[in-house]
Amino acid sequence: MTETETRTPGPAERQPERPGLADERHDVGGVRLERPFKIRRLGHFGYNCVDTDAMLEFYVDGLGLIISDQSGTMPSRLPAEEQETLTPNERLLHFTRFGSEHHQLVFISQQVWDWVGQANGSAGASINQVTWQVGSLAEVVNGAEWIWGRGERLMRSGRDMPGSNWHTYLFDPEGHINELFYGMEQIGWDGLSKPRPMWTGVLNERPTLPQASEATEVAGAGGAGIDVLSGHRAEVSAPGSFAVDGVLMRRPFKIVGIGPVSLFVEDLEDTQRFYTQVLGFDVRRDVEWQGHRGVLLSCGTDHHNLALYETGLRDALGLNGRNDSMALGFRLANYRQLRAAVDYMVARGAEEVDVPAELVPGFDYVSHLRDPDGNLVQLYYYQRQCAPTDPLPTTVSGAVADWPELIDAPADVFGGQQFLGPWE
Ligand SMILES: [Fe+2]
Repeated sequence: MTETETRTPGPAERQPERPGLADERHDVGGVRLERPFKIRRLGHFGYNCVDTDAMLEFYVDGLGLIISDQSGTMPSRLPAEEQETLTPNERLLHFTRFGSEHHQLVFISQQVWDWVGQANGSAGASINQVTWQVGSLAEVVNGAEWIWGRGERLMRSGRDMPGSNWHTYLFDPEGHINELFYGMEQIGWDGLSKPRPMWTGVLNERPTLPQASEATEVAGAGGAGIDVLSGHRAEVSAPGSFAVDGVLMRRPFKIVGIGPVSLFVEDLEDTQRFYTQVLGFDVRRDVEWQGHRGVLLSCGTDHHNLALYETGLRDALGLNGRNDSMALGFRLANYRQLRAAVDYMVARGAEEVDVPAELVPGFDYVSHLRDPDGNLVQLYYYQRQCAPTDPLPTTVSGAVADWPELIDAPADVFGGQQFLGPWE
């Protein structure tokens, strides 16, 4: 045990270190921040799949993710002779969700990614995106400019379909692709995503601001004769037979949250610099096991949203050498459902993997299962919620006309529950 591992979570955790930004202030919605954006939460994540069929069976049939759309646009870029070697599922990108966000986990064939990734050096990567929600479209655009101005490596900005979210892609120092986004399409009670004739807003350059709202786009599509209710809906093949806390469901649990993301990195100090100084994460805790170090980072009240582990841990844990990430977390609705989910997946053939508790503090009970490609699924129902230790800000009320136009940010500004989707 090292000194750092024995500390208790909560107020005693490491306080934010923000060297180099002391003089920077940006107006983000009338609040002074050190950078022109604030990451609010993990939005989605993407795996490049060696065995796409088995991965879909594990995550969709097993864990219950819902396919919101499938797109063949990216695989169609491969040469014809390469396309002929792809299975039907490899000829599609599979966008999946467990909640209302259009996609929360994206599956792409490794073969497809390796072809497309030649252009930007990401061929061979096992993950295709680690995607964070920021507060507005302006934060996406201004954030990309600021990150580029600091000498970091941007990939592209614009807007993709399906999903309709505005974004910028950037590389961390070791080539992991991060994405900042605003305005993910939301799927409601009818389960319908936007129809393909509405996938016309693809943009491969920095958007000019302001842009039209989604409500305006939907009205325009309807006016142009598009049947806006003709999008994809996942089939529900059979009624549920599991009584789950009062509801008959098709499996005895429900995933209700995504993250943390756990990345393997060669240079822990440099990647920590990137995620703290550039993307604005706070260091929550250092960890170490058998000489292999890691650092846990947070963008809000969760104990951690991102874990960086030295690559030596991959072998020490007996993990697949191709994997860029140790695990992807999913939160279950409660403790009983956590146990039921593990039982259900093990009965389907999933393997439990023992990850040392020293590496994953912040949970009470946590289980790791190996997926068909060798990535770990980190299942839990609870993470410690952490509050800043500084005094409460002084509450200001009274006439709004007397308030300043620009204010200083409380330590936990823009934290807590987040709005999903486009504003209008
Ligand atoms: Fe994305």
